[in-house]
Amino acid sequence: MRVLGIETSCDETGIAIYDTEQGLLANTLYSQVKLHADYGGVVPELASRDHVRKTLPLIEQTLADAGLTAADIDGVAYTAGPGLIGALLVGATIGRSLAFGWQVPAIGVHHMEGHLLAPMLEERRPEFPFVALLVSGGHTQLVRVDGIGQYQLLGESVDDAAGEAFDKTAKLLGLDYPGGPRLAKLATSGRADRFQFPRPMTDKPGLNFSFSGLKTAAAQAIAKHGDDPQTHADIARAFEDAVVDTLIIKCQRALEHTGLNRLVMAGGVSANVRLRAALEQTLADLKGEVFYPRPEFCTDNGAMIALAGAQRLVSGYQEDLSVQVRPRWPLVELPAI
Ligand code: KG4
Ligand code: ZN
Repeated sequence: MRVLGIETSCDETGIAIYDTEQGLLANTLYSQVKLHADYGGVVPELASRDHVRKTLPLIEQTLADAGLTAADIDGVAYTAGPGLIGALLVGATIGRSLAFGWQVPAIGVHHMEGHLLAPMLEERRPEFPFVALLVSGGHTQLVRVDGIGQYQLLGESVDDAAGEAFDKTAKLLGLDYPGGPRLAKLATSGRADRFQFPRPMTDKPGLNFSFSGLKTAAAQAIAKHGDDPQTHADIARAFEDAVVDTLIIKCQRALEHTGLNRLVMAGGVSANVRLRAALEQTLADLKGEVFYPRPEFCTDNGAMIALAGAQRLVSGYQEDLSVQVRPRWPLVELPAI
């Protein structure tokens, strides 16, 4: 089955074609970063309008890249949530309408299920069951995964998501939006021994996270010491170390708690080089395995939506014709297939 995937939940227009036999056939991405840069963050109305401009031309380009026409598409998958309501509605309306015109089924995909299944785009794929660490701009969650749609939430952030904490701290350090990758780059020239930030919620049992205090720790360090570039780099390093350590401690705990030794990491923050290295080391020590997508499939993309939709569509999962999106949508509400 060949599925067209459409991702428009936030500030990237991602289009891809995934074939359940042959794998990924084409993938295109248009990032709105420049559009929002002057505002220091995503402006929802501008995001929706830009998706309106970009989605159809990108679909045409993606079909052409794959050497296919509309007649070759057997199903359409679009992100139905969670995300910005206007942005979601653009992809949902276009996806449903195309599917109706092409007389193929369409499916609304959960954005975080897309992230969670993104490692399946790689040659080395995780087998079920596994523990998933989902770390994006909007979510930080540990999930036990026994199959597609068989999700048990083990823990999540009680305040800022990890990516959000990266972005807010980057802003404090005077870095442009989107700050996460920029902060990570700055941290490479930072010294590890100058500042010591807390590892929130690691001193008591449980698998929840709290990252908003780290931003405050960074703000205080900046207020006290932070005028020169080296100090900024040192603060970036201390912040990154604290997030990475905290995530690793909780991952270890989740593996212990579930008795599993396979870990999948996905979402924008999983592109972080130091986090990837630390997790690999941890899982090697535990004689376990870690899986994550290539960096371009860690952040938002259409390929993960095409893949997740294809898995559900081949199982015979069907939806009615109405265009529905869910800006808030708990992952655990998804039906199992
Ligand atoms: O998954 P994603 O593309 O969008 C959401 O679903 O939220 O994640 C975006 C988040 C942003 O907060 C961004 O700063 C963060 O992922 N991010 C990173 C890195 N690359 C992206 N954070 C730390 N290090 C990185 N290399
Ligand atoms: Zn995402």
